[in-house]
Amino acid sequence: MTGHRPTPDRLRDSTFLAACRAEPHDRTPVWFMRQAGRSLPEYRAIRGSGSILEVIADPKLSAEITLQPVRRYGVDAAILYSDIVVPAHAVGFGVDVKPGIGPFVESPFERAADLQRLRPLEPDIDTPYVLETVRRVVEEADVPVIGFAGAPFTVASYLIEGAPSRTYGRTKALMLGDTGLWHDLMDRLADMAISSLCSQIAAGASAVQLFDSWAGTLSPPTYEKYVLPHSRRVFESLAETRVPRIHFGVGTSEILGLMTAAGADVIGIDWRIPLDEARRRLGPETVLQGNLDPAICLGPADKIEAVVAAEVADVLARNDGHPGHVFNLGHGVLPEIDPVVLERVVEQVHAHPLDS
Ligand code: CP3
Repeated sequence: MTGHRPTPDRLRDSTFLAACRAEPHDRTPVWFMRQAGRSLPEYRAIRGSGSILEVIADPKLSAEITLQPVRRYGVDAAILYSDIVVPAHAVGFGVDVKPGIGPFVESPFERAADLQRLRPLEPDIDTPYVLETVRRVVEEADVPVIGFAGAPFTVASYLIEGAPSRTYGRTKALMLGDTGLWHDLMDRLADMAISSLCSQIAAGASAVQLFDSWAGTLSPPTYEKYVLPHSRRVFESLAETRVPRIHFGVGTSEILGLMTAAGADVIGIDWRIPLDEARRRLGPETVLQGNLDPAICLGPADKIEAVVAAEVADVLARNDGHPGHVFNLGHGVLPEIDPVVLERVVEQVHAHPLDS
């Protein structure tokens, strides 16, 4: 294991890290989930046509893709170009990512014997290319690098469903029908997320995000019993690294309190809940990330400029000068979004004075 690389001095007072810690700073930082990739022509130009997993295995290319949106948009953080299924793929579970569809598993997780397909992740051996990408980006970027992992529930849902699902029926059947096996699976996936995130931090990531994108499909009691303990273990294991930990999911308005109980420093919210309402529910000290609806950014820049500007202003007004706000979309950049629209969003957020 190469030694731990602390956040470089030049990034210590970055607005992104200050906002994650609710420390005073003069303008709201902004980055976009899925900023690296699909909607950028410069990405499509170098992406090639193979599986995204092959691109991710090429650190030079992945570092360049990570940096593209930082250069184009002037965002305040770089999100590592990788994917939430990379660790499971790297230990040989048998998962690929189909273009335009997402993760695809030839033989989905069904029974106890399938646990053997999820041996512990050894990041230096299994995913050295991810760590090399982090090191390269840290070297080149003048903004903090965000590492990430899929949360145990969201990764489990892909491994069990095998392909995108609307109902998560198989996942819920296993969770409720074979609770012992469910917790064994979640334990392994939590361990995998912990090793992966720790290795990214050691390679120089200044913050990490745990994506529980599909946790919003669960009722609060189900989330609390079957998911929360595992996500909490991930966050607790990272506490001593002292890097800001972000926890994100979609459609999570009713489980935000429980997600907060998992112990992250920053809670990501989607557009379904107004930012001020989320802070009312979670407490005045809560650091929030979000929450512009990505769908309103669709359309030609000249036609929708005023609409987007009004929505951005609304999010900023609801934050009301709170130092604990990282501006973002409520979910990822849609492939059809005109990058010019996002350039304007960044300009507007940066021009807005933050009284803190
Ligand atoms: O800027 C970034 O966020 C880039 C890094 C990134 C990717 N995936 C690259 C990617 C991140 C943070 C992810 C996380 C991820 N992967 C999540 C959580 C975030 C979320 O949106 O909720 C999820 C659910 C996945 C699984 C996954 N991988 C999906 C659903 C897809 C989309 C399929 C498609 O083409 O629409 C992928 C593929 C993927 N991962 C792409 C990118 C840029 C697009 C496909 C490609 O370029 O080959």
